[in-house]
Amino acid sequence: MPPAPHTRTVAVHLLPELVEPQQLAGKTAVVIDVLRATTTVVTALACGAVEVLPFLNVEDARAKAQTAGDKVLLGGERGGLRIEGFQLGNSPAEYNERTVRDRTVIFTTTNGTRAMQRCKLAKRVLIAGFVNLSAICRELVDETEIDIVCAGTDGHVTREDTLLAGAIVDDLSRITGMTLVTNDQADIACDAWRSAVGDLTGASPLSQALRASRGGRNLIDIGHENDIDLAAQIDQFDLVAELDLVSWRITAK
Ligand code: MLT
Repeated sequence: MPPAPHTRTVAVHLLPELVEPQQLAGKTAVVIDVLRATTTVVTALACGAVEVLPFLNVEDARAKAQTAGDKVLLGGERGGLRIEGFQLGNSPAEYNERTVRDRTVIFTTTNGTRAMQRCKLAKRVLIAGFVNLSAICRELVDETEIDIVCAGTDGHVTREDTLLAGAIVDDLSRITGMTLVTNDQADIACDAWRSAVGDLTGASPLSQALRASRGGRNLIDIGHENDIDLAAQIDQFDLVAELDLVSWRITAK
């Protein structure tokens, strides 16, 4: 049943497996993989990439690249590292004006692109990081049924995705001035976000929180600690990234 007028339902799913694709039919989905897939997609588009094409499998990504012309780059990771034969990995630092302007990026990551696939029946799919938090929240203001889908890591809930989901719920309730109709996971995420920003002090409290997260520790282990600071740059880009569900292309709105 659709929500009553003047209400907003906001559900958070801390893992893609916690929501069935059919449950997202007709809803506005927001996909989150703070460390790092969705941060990297937003960065690529902000730096002038024409589009990002998400693929589940490395083989399919490679096959697409062979037929897609010379403006194409292959980007993504397995085990956090650049895939053999790919021009770019999954570090937002690699996606800049010089590397991606006017290019199509064919992109595959372990968890992030899988979370996007989970949303294939949604009405709309937005792609969010802390780097475009306010732009995403503005875009959501007129949507009445919102489902935030966290990628997690290999079936485990992650703190970094939970925090961003909570930040979106918190911002939406302030911007709309409404009491949102939420699920328990949205309330848990919102509590986590409020307690993290309230408890942490110092120059970059979000970076500190992300460093302590599962994804943050993984990145430190593989020598990509700098990516944590890039992912923690709230509102670095005023850009809404949206996955077109027919063409399966992510573009900037
Ligand atoms: C993923 O999609 O699994 C992540 O973005 C992994 C990573 O940080 O490279």
